[in-house]
Amino acid sequence: MFDFADNSARFIERDRTAASVLLGALDALQPALKPDDPVLVVDDGAGEVVAALQGRCTLTTWRRFASVGQTATPFPGPGAHALATLRLPRSREALELALHLIGARLAEGAPVLVYGHNDEGIKGAARRIEEIFGSVEVVDTRKHCRVLLARRPTSPPAPFRGQLSDWRRVKPFALEDGPIDMVVYPGIFAHGGLDEGTAMLLAALPDPPAGAHVLDFGCGSGIIGAALLRRVPDLRVQCLDFDQVAVQAARENVPTGLHRCGASWSALPAYSRYDRIVSNPPIHLGRDNDYGVLKRLVEGAGIRLLDGGELWIVVQRQVPVQKVLQDEYAELSCEAESTRFRVWRAAAPFAP
Ligand SMILES: C[S@@+](CC[C@H](N)C(=O)[O-])C[C@H]1O[C@@H](n2cnc3c(N)ncnc32)[C@H](O)[C@@H]1O
Repeated sequence: MFDFADNSARFIERDRTAASVLLGALDALQPALKPDDPVLVVDDGAGEVVAALQGRCTLTTWRRFASVGQTATPFPGPGAHALATLRLPRSREALELALHLIGARLAEGAPVLVYGHNDEGIKGAARRIEEIFGSVEVVDTRKHCRVLLARRPTSPPAPFRGQLSDWRRVKPFALEDGPIDMVVYPGIFAHGGLDEGTAMLLAALPDPPAGAHVLDFGCGSGIIGAALLRRVPDLRVQCLDFDQVAVQAARENVPTGLHRCGASWSALPAYSRYDRIVSNPPIHLGRDNDYGVLKRLVEGAGIRLLDGGELWIVVQRQVPVQKVLQDEYAELSCEAESTRFRVWRAAAPFAP
């Protein structure tokens, strides 16, 4: 039996542990931070690093990923920082992007400290850091965490690519009804390519009626909205994702849409209602399964559907979503299935 519980509390605890190890290392390395030293704090999950450094230096923060109550931006502001910290990003591509964006905003010789848990891949991150900065050292290992330090070299192995636009690529996504060119950036879902589940969802989904309001929940590059707009050009599409870099791609791929960055329903206008809510929802947090977002999507979609509206999702077969859907919707059908995925259509939500 799968635990459908929201694991986010556990992840906040992990962030806290990693941050405590970083702060220990930081105290040992930088005992004399001055109030006007500019410091860049990146993806400080639980806010522990900012809280500890407040008042000791001049803080700038960058969060790529929004969380409830925390906004995000696609890249850090300008600067020549005396120090930067980076909570290990969830993918190799996102790490590479973050290291370049940070490297370009460090003063010469200034350190960046990258920290994370061993089981998140912090050991393997060392090689990537070395490739970009020229050298790396381990400065702390405690509580199954590791802190790595690199300094901005006078001449890095290759110049830092410090603008998000330096990373923009256009990839053809091979949809059933023909290829579609998509703008992608590093760290977007499915390595910025077409996911098998998304392709299956789009193939199973009938065209929404002309002028329909469609929500692409967890939009990534915006492939769902872009593909539906190609089929029905006057749809009114909203794209939501908690990753600002993904939202930036969706802005470019779905230029007529409305784009929101946030981790929950509250990121959307309270009055918005939809004829279709369509999603390939996230089922992982880091490397672990987590169905919290899926649960909140299924439970929260009902009151946001217009009369006759439908929720369409694609989920891996092993995810026990059927029961949660049955609890919320009077009409439920599996519209397509493969050895890996099922596409669900849910309608007629029970009154809240
Ligand atoms: C499985 S991917 C699907 C992406 C895209 N729709 C596609 O089909 O390629 C799930 C997406 O949900 C986003 N996501 C994860 N947690 C989220 C949350 N709490 N709120 C909104 N989006 C979230 C991820 O950034 C990712 O882009």
